[in-house]
Amino acid sequence: MLSLNFLCVFITIFGFVYSIEECKNVSEIYKFHLGTKTPYRFVANTMPERMDYPGCEPQKLWFLVRHGTRTPSIDLIENMKERLPEIRDLILENNPKPSERLRNSDLYALRKWKLKIDSTKEKILAHEGEDEMIDLAERLQMRFPSLLPSTYSNTTYYFKYTKSQRTKASAKYFAAGLFGRQSVRDVWYPTPSKKDPVLRFYKLCSKWKDEVKDNPESVREKQLFENSSHMLKAIEAMNYELKFKDNQRLSLEDVHLIYMTCAFETAWYRKNKSPWCSALTSEVAKVMEFTEDLKYYYRDGYGYEITYKQACVTFNDMLNHLESTSQYPKSTVYYTHSGTLLKMLSHMGLYNDSKPLTHKDFDQSGNKWRVSKIDSFGTNLGFILYRCDQKYKVLTLHQEHVVHLPSCEEELCDLDQIKEHYNDSIHECEFDEMCSNNENDL
Ligand SMILES: *[C@@H]1O[C@H](CO)[C@@H](O)[C@H](O)[C@H]1NC(C)=O
Ligand SMILES: *[C@@H]1O[C@H](CO)[C@@H](O)[C@H](O)[C@H]1NC(C)=O
Ligand SMILES: *[C@@H]1O[C@H](CO)[C@@H](O)[C@H](O)[C@H]1NC(C)=O
Ligand SMILES: *[C@@H]1O[C@H](CO)[C@@H](O)[C@H](O)[C@H]1NC(C)=O
Ligand SMILES: *[C@@H]1O[C@H](CO)[C@@H](O)[C@H](O)[C@H]1NC(C)=O
Repeated sequence: MLSLNFLCVFITIFGFVYSIEECKNVSEIYKFHLGTKTPYRFVANTMPERMDYPGCEPQKLWFLVRHGTRTPSIDLIENMKERLPEIRDLILENNPKPSERLRNSDLYALRKWKLKIDSTKEKILAHEGEDEMIDLAERLQMRFPSLLPSTYSNTTYYFKYTKSQRTKASAKYFAAGLFGRQSVRDVWYPTPSKKDPVLRFYKLCSKWKDEVKDNPESVREKQLFENSSHMLKAIEAMNYELKFKDNQRLSLEDVHLIYMTCAFETAWYRKNKSPWCSALTSEVAKVMEFTEDLKYYYRDGYGYEITYKQACVTFNDMLNHLESTSQYPKSTVYYTHSGTLLKMLSHMGLYNDSKPLTHKDFDQSGNKWRVSKIDSFGTNLGFILYRCDQKYKVLTLHQEHVVHLPSCEEELCDLDQIKEHYNDSIHECEFDEMCSNNENDL
């Protein structure tokens, strides 16, 4: 047992990019396949050790943060309210006695289950999301005390969020983590906008909207996978295991609804297992996760060039902050959305598989592009500038783990090397031009 735990911790520290698979508890496999609804605690580096490099002094910090765990969209809440009670009754009817598959505690929890969210509370930061932001801020402050002082100052810090409750609340709880709850009201924020050119640039990009977001072709690989034998067999097996009769069969939509509910409830409640996770099979969790991998690969990832190319505006904002000759602000933190984080990760060339992801690549261990790991709630990507003698170097953190940029072997990457590798991002970033923006369009 001891060695197992040790292996688990070891892998969590050093193997984040490679696999969290090894340290799973067999009955909790589903936890590692929750896609973009994965809570941050499953992927975070929670060791708040100082990130000191001999001879180097941290100078500036820039972070992009996805809002923490939230409540579902109104459509999903409505579906949950309508369909889940029907499915619950069928499961209970078909499984009157406990079994290996559905234990007494599972059936009890299912019988007692009620949706604790109503439609007026859509897409708001959940309690877990508040904790995620407080904890993230506290750990970052322990690592970089000189860049994240515990007394707020309008000159030291620059914070900004998009126009949404969940990013605004994320900013508030992050500030509570840094300065304490009493001081959060002192923090100044610029007026948020829905289509912020740095925080949510894609909302301003006509070409991305036409070529990607509104293009049915962009969901083709996802649909092909939904029709694949992997998917059909997984749904079939779940129906069989839950003893559903032919005229009761759970559809793809039903199974997806169960998966989403399992994911959200796992994120919301640290202690109690959602009964919908008990109903799910691990194979279904895996195919659902891969469906998300495909969906986001083609919408926010490497699938189309314009998607990640346009993120040069955010990349340049980061570089300008790090390179600014002014000492202030020392730290810039942006609270934004999954779509921004994934496009920025792709712009940096991170988690780029050697060939495009397709419906044929259902292979949990081989793919780098796995949204459960790279795009959980609270996902964050940070760049920290160090001065080492006369040289400037940059540390890159994703989910608080050190990551190596494609051009760099070392943890601290030469700033000049970064500027050379991303030369096009710097010199060819005509946003309106690459987005084919017409003044009339926007
Ligand atoms: C695995 O998880 C189950 C259910 O949460 C728990 O009862 C069991 O003790 C865990 N086993 C190990 C080895 O951690
Ligand atoms: C500081 O706060 C004020 C509002 O109180 C704001 O107008 C100003 O732009 C802020 N930023 C800096 C860097 O002073
Ligand atoms: C999936 O299968 C359905 C039913 O056979 C079919 O109508 C649909 O066109 C298929 N979708 C794709 C993307 O192949
Ligand atoms: C992703 O990887 C492919 C294959 O190695 C490479 O051709 C492509 O340039 C990479 N994309 C980015 C944005 O780095
Ligand atoms: C960077 O790009 C500019 C403009 O495209 C070009 O003039 C310059 O030579 C490039 N520098 C490097 C190091 O590739």
